[in-house]
Amino acid sequence: MNKAPLLEELLKYKSENNLILSMPGNKSGKGFLRDKLGRRLKDSLGELDITEVDPLDNLHNPEGVIKEAQELLAKTYKVKKAYFLVNGSSSGNLSAIFSAFNEGDEVLVERNCHKSIYNALILRKLKVIYIDAVVDNNLGIFLPPREEEINDALEKAKSPKGIILTNPNYFGVYYDLEKTIEKLRKEGLKVIIDSAHGAHFGFNDKLPKSMATLGDYVVVSAHKTLPSLTQGAFLLLNSVDDNIEFYLKAFMTTSPSYLIMASLDYSRYYLDNYSKDDYDNLIEMAEKYRQDINSLNKVYIVSNKDMEEKYKIDKSRYLMTVRDGYSGHKLLEYLRSKKIQAEMSFGKGVVLILSPSNTEVDFEKIYLAIKDLNIDLLKTEENIIEFSKSYPKKILEPYEVFNFKYKYISLDNSLDKISNEFIVPYPPGIPVVCPGEKITSEVIDIIRNYIDNKLSVIGLEDNRIKVLDI
Ligand SMILES: Cc1ncc(COP(=O)(O)O)c(C=O)c1O
Repeated sequence: MNKAPLLEELLKYKSENNLILSMPGNKSGKGFLRDKLGRRLKDSLGELDITEVDPLDNLHNPEGVIKEAQELLAKTYKVKKAYFLVNGSSSGNLSAIFSAFNEGDEVLVERNCHKSIYNALILRKLKVIYIDAVVDNNLGIFLPPREEEINDALEKAKSPKGIILTNPNYFGVYYDLEKTIEKLRKEGLKVIIDSAHGAHFGFNDKLPKSMATLGDYVVVSAHKTLPSLTQGAFLLLNSVDDNIEFYLKAFMTTSPSYLIMASLDYSRYYLDNYSKDDYDNLIEMAEKYRQDINSLNKVYIVSNKDMEEKYKIDKSRYLMTVRDGYSGHKLLEYLRSKKIQAEMSFGKGVVLILSPSNTEVDFEKIYLAIKDLNIDLLKTEENIIEFSKSYPKKILEPYEVFNFKYKYISLDNSLDKISNEFIVPYPPGIPVVCPGEKITSEVIDIIRNYIDNKLSVIGLEDNRIKVLDI
């Protein structure tokens, strides 16, 4: 008999019975156990994989139950219109950017935005003004931009048509940009907010405010934090846009999964019915155990008081950090050995995505794992490098690099060459060079330093750089 390697590995992973503190937000189905409706969804997943038959409506031309579900969704998020996305927030970002802007438009974009946004900038042939990244060298993470960085980018722009922001970020850090965004919209800029990690924000007053009503377009990934299946997300619209539905059809499959759509409907229903009580319970437990775990003096879970004013941390996430000389990547491996699955690691820590489906037993498991931790196991020789804020000069727009041939050259020979790729050292995960930018001696020094310290640099191939052959 032949093997089914993926399926077999998946079943093996399931049998390990790990505590899932990564995506998806349904946490291996536990998120559907809240009530009878959710349990019926979970128990019938196999049978509910149905196509567009009567009377199940059609996502690409909704007139019945999908239309009704999307109208309820718009009400829940208090927005003008809302759409189910079955190809993740990526499809929402692509659709919003294509609909909001025309070829050649100038837009402000954060340097460390998600890949789907870069893909859209390239495909839509946009002119890019980067908003500088904000780095917290203490925590070894990047933060959402503040008014200062946005204003600096605005000054560099000639006639910007819009701005694309990410808030909160992957670490669960949020910055209050309400006033700034209102001002930008009044000035006529179209505002797109990638709030993929904030689908649950605003549904409990202990969570940061929702971004849902702030932008012209706001994208939230239901599957990251709500009881939705992977790929389920929402596009929320606050202005009139006659073209958006064309782009949604273009960037999503013509065979949308009813399983994903049903889980999206359940996520909205969950927010309406249970978010207040459930997030109260979750945050109460998370806060108690945060203090208990911190008092063990082995790792440190960050809270609002560690953040600069106007930055807030999502209390339904643990940003668990280690001291200098210790490794976040090793902490992730250790937690895995204790059957706790973290979402991700970075040089100085790990991110754990909690959920209202977590019980006291789960928190006790995290607490005991840290209590048992022999901290020497996390020691590392790796140096964490302070991130420099000076960026190279843009010679070409990211999309223009496709007009040229490329070649791979050694780092030492790359001075003054134009990069064909994003070069992204981790941590903190911000590109030191974007496609179309000229490689400077400072960039070479940073990359060399990361390589020498055996840290990860995405975008290199055998330590060689892909540059334009001109
Ligand atoms: C900030 C941000 N935006 C967008 C996305 C894309 O989301 P999806 O995986 O739902 O397409 C991600 C994915 O991790 C993300 O972190």
